[in-house]
Formats: sequence, structure tokens, C-alpha cells
Amino acid sequence: MSKVTDLKIELVEVCEAASRACAPFVGSGQKDEGDGLAVDAMRARINQVKMRGEIVIGEGAKDEAPALYDGEKVGTGEGIGVDIAVDPIEGTNLFAKDMPGSICTLAAAPEGSMYRPGSCFYMDKQVYPKAARGKIDPEAPVADRLQQLATVLGKDIREIKVFVLQKPRHEQLLKEIYGCGAKVRLATDGDVNGAIQAILNMGCDALYGIGGTPEGIVTACAARAMGAEMFGRMAPQKDFEIELCKKEGVDTQRIITRDELVTSDDCLFIATGLTSGAYVRHVKTGADAHGKFMTTDTIVLDGGIGNIRRVQTTLHI
Ligand code: FBP
Repeated sequence: MSKVTDLKIELVEVCEAASRACAPFVGSGQKDEGDGLAVDAMRARINQVKMRGEIVIGEGAKDEAPALYDGEKVGTGEGIGVDIAVDPIEGTNLFAKDMPGSICTLAAAPEGSMYRPGSCFYMDKQVYPKAARGKIDPEAPVADRLQQLATVLGKDIREIKVFVLQKPRHEQLLKEIYGCGAKVRLATDGDVNGAIQAILNMGCDALYGIGGTPEGIVTACAARAMGAEMFGRMAPQKDFEIELCKKEGVDTQRIITRDELVTSDDCLFIATGLTSGAYVRHVKTGADAHGKFMTTDTIVLDGGIGNIRRVQTTLHI
């Protein structure tokens, strides 16, 4: 019986193809043009992968072309059933402004194993590294959680750094983090990126705050692949979303565990750099005697026990 993680190299090529396609628009000030190219390239390559894939977390509804839409069948239609979550450009503003932290990302897990968030677009997230797995009470006040984290990491609370998106909705959260002496790494966009920095111990110890639910599912695959910890809670922000969530009976108090967000260790997280970042470098173009080439830098996390693979590809175009 084959596994989803056996598809990793082919799925890396999906992210690489998307990042090469949108690279000319990095720093162009135009985010939609780059997104369209990334989506088209992703779709063309993913449909060559031998699997019965379904986009369970895409960029929108069927009629919102050119996005890879929720429910879209991808792959050749043979072989293993795979749930796919994609974000062809995570951090579109960062991409358009050539600011650090924009990635092309994809997560995969066995058919039926990814959480279906319904109409809730925003999720309140807590992400911690492997050492904290099972050691944090997700419902405790921020100061208590950060003390629990400091204890398991063998640090003073003043040495703890939390990645938080710089948004008005996070004012109270920031007060509470600063109030107990911990530090904050702020970013305008890109909470998948922040979560990976916490999971991989890249100068951050946790990610806190409200961001996209699709990004939350992608992050859960990374956390599970690495044996790290994560909690989510549905946190609708927009009026229409709040209404829809009420109708769907979404419980905005309930903590959703990592293993509910993705129910299998046979999961993969892949990210290819678009702009420079903490764990993947930017996509770049060069030339030699054989003509022009492009180089991409990708990270792959898989297996539930912390397997990390780095793939640097130079391809003549
Ligand atoms: P996009 O790439 O779709 O612009 O997402 C960037 C991002 O910062 C995500 O990382 C985050 O989860 C989400 O936006 C937060 O949404 P908002 O900007 O509406 O607060």
C-alpha cells in the first residue's frame, strides 16, 4: 500500500513549477497576476501526479477562476486518495513588495484526513515546537501558557519569543505577551511562515493569533509532520462569515487539536521560497553557457517524527 509521503518529490515539483511561473512578478506591485501564473503552473503539474487527489483547502469556490478551488479533483485519477491543501502564494502582499516570507506551499495527507472548516475563514492558532507537545494547556491565560512553554524549553519567560501578525485584532494579545516579559516577532503577513519558524526553532518559540483557516490546515500538516504542537479555534471576523458560522452551528469556543486538524502522520508540508525567508531562499534567475536557468529552494517536512528535507533545484528554462 503506497503512502502520501511517497509522493513528496513529485509534489515538490508542483511547488517548484508554481514558483518559477510567478517569479517574474516578485516585487512587481501586482499580486493577482503572479497568483494566476502560480495557480496555472500548479494545476498543470499536479495533474500529472499519479494519485486520486482532491483540493480540500484551495483558494475559493469553483467559479472564482483561476484559483484551485475546493473540491477540485487533481492528479491522474489512479492510485492513492489524497487530500490536498494549497496556497500558491502565501503572503501575496509580501510577494508583490518583495518583502521576506512569501512562499508557495502545499500540504498533503490521506483522503478524508484534513479538517473541513466550512465557511469559517479565520482561525485562532497556537503553534509550539516538538518539546512542548502535550505540555501546554491551550485554554490557560497567555501568561500561564508562556510560562509552561518557558519551563519545557528550559528558558526564562523573558527569552520566549512569539510570532504574531501585526493586526488591530491582536492588540490585547500583544499586551498580554509583553506584560509577562516575553518578546514578539511581528510581521504584517504570513502566519504559515511564523508557524514554521516556531516549529523549526528559528528564533521564535511559538505562533499566536488569528489568521486564515486554510493557512491553519497547512500549518497543522507541518506541525504533525514534525511532531510539534498546535491548537486551533474558529474565530470568524467578517460580518458575513459570523452569520454563516452561526447558521452552520460553528462552536467558536472549542479548541480543535492538531490531530483533529489532520488525522494522519502520513502527511507532508512543502514550501518553496518566493521571497527570501528564514528557512527557504527566494526563487532566482541566472544564465550560463546553456542559457537561462532558475533556482528554487524548497523545504519538505513529513512523517510525524520530524523528517526534514531541503531541495535546491536549478533548471534551465
Ligand atoms: P494571503 O497570501 O492570502 O494574502 O495571506 C496572507 C496572510 O497574512 C496569511 O498568512 C494569514 O493567515 C492571513 O493573511 C490573515 O488574514 P488577514 O490579512 O485578512 O488578517
